[in-house]
Amino acid sequence: MKALTYHSAKDVRVETVPDPVLQDEQDIILRITATAICGSDLHIYRGKIPGMKSGDILGHEFMGVVEDVGPGVTKVRRGDRVVVPFTIACGDCFFCTHTLFSACENTNPGRGAILNKKNVRSGAGMFGYSHLYGGYAGGQAEFVRVPKANVGPVVIPAGLADEKVLFLSDILPTGYQAVVNGRVGPGSSVAIFGAGPVGLMAAASARLLGAEKIFMVDHHAYRLAFAQQAYDIIPINFDEVDDPAELIIEQTDFRGVDASIDAVGFEAKGSALETVLTDLKLEGSSGKALRQAIAATRRGGVVSVPGVYAGFIHGFLFGDAFEKGLSFASGQTHTQRFMPELLEKILEGQLHPEIIITHRLSLEEAVRGYQIFEKKQEDCRKVVLTPGRSDSVLEASA
Ligand SMILES: NC(=O)c1ccc[n+]([C@@H]2O[C@H](COP(=O)([O-])OP(=O)(O)OC[C@H]3O[C@@H](n4cnc5c(N)ncnc54)[C@H](O)[C@@H]3O)[C@@H](O)[C@H]2O)c1
Ligand SMILES: [Zn+2]
Ligand SMILES: [Zn+2]
Repeated sequence: MKALTYHSAKDVRVETVPDPVLQDEQDIILRITATAICGSDLHIYRGKIPGMKSGDILGHEFMGVVEDVGPGVTKVRRGDRVVVPFTIACGDCFFCTHTLFSACENTNPGRGAILNKKNVRSGAGMFGYSHLYGGYAGGQAEFVRVPKANVGPVVIPAGLADEKVLFLSDILPTGYQAVVNGRVGPGSSVAIFGAGPVGLMAAASARLLGAEKIFMVDHHAYRLAFAQQAYDIIPINFDEVDDPAELIIEQTDFRGVDASIDAVGFEAKGSALETVLTDLKLEGSSGKALRQAIAATRRGGVVSVPGVYAGFIHGFLFGDAFEKGLSFASGQTHTQRFMPELLEKILEGQLHPEIIITHRLSLEEAVRGYQIFEKKQEDCRKVVLTPGRSDSVLEASA
């Protein structure tokens, strides 16, 4: 089959690789019909995620048709059309039974990314996200093996186009979890840092939950303009406004917002010092967006962090957070928890995540998709890839 493989920083390729096979009784083989490139893939693409091996297949946002099932699979059948959550969860462990699926203790044989790990078990495995997260082959491919198929995949009713539901795999639950964690509700004020796909899904979710005032900070004017038109956000361009948090405070009666959402993560732009120190490996992350989020949030408010962080940040103003009595929430999304309710919202016409798509490419064009998305060219917001070949090559196993 064809798949998008990683080789080194900025070197990904569409190659012919062996087809996946069933390995465990709860596995399914999925024929991919749509798959997307995530901002998290860009961390890998830029060579910032350790534990990658040459030839690893990327991709964790995908859906398709069940092609083959293991003997222990009871929840889906051959021929079902399903969306698959990016985190792999067993459904039975301590964390899964508390609906903390991304903390599943049974699906990641890798080390995970905690620096001060001691004996703690690794959290959930993830598709296409390095050997730290289990080394599972990803779904930017024609086929993928999906483990724990009784827990993850959600069957999609006939008649809904792929692109309406594809983002249930990651960014829609991620944006939604971020605002739920931010305790956003009717009348809330929110500041969202980052107007990428995750920030946009957070804005859509904040609107859904009744937020009143939504600030959005980025420096890509085209992304802010889209968010303003689609979700009625108040745009703040940090190329023009030196200190967005200061402006947000002035516009919230000198208190700050109820919740800030950091949808940027550890590659945040804006601190030349941190960028240099990070390149020298003296700093783990850029804390720019996180510091802005802490500064923009009112006393007693929440800083909710869906953006990915790795390692340490020296300039983390925890004293300010303490003084303001802030709460923090973060982490990989417990995708399985939110997929059913968000599918309902899509069916009811309350959410239209597909409106953020700007680029529809074939899988063969995936390398160009990475380049455009990474460089924010052609006003790119989100790239969806469609494998060109629709006929099955796995009939032998049927
Ligand atoms: N927690 C999860 O489970 C989860 C799931 C999906 C994505 N993510 C993470 O969410 C983050 C965003 O993903 P995305 O797909 O939207 O990526 P993206 O790269 O398209 O968007 C990030 C945006 O942040 C902006 N930005 C950079 N520095 C900034 C700053 N200092 N202040 C404000 N904005 C700034 C960029 O201009 C860009 O528009 C990534 O870190 C990604 O890994 C996490
Ligand atoms: Zn993702
Ligand atoms: Zn589990």
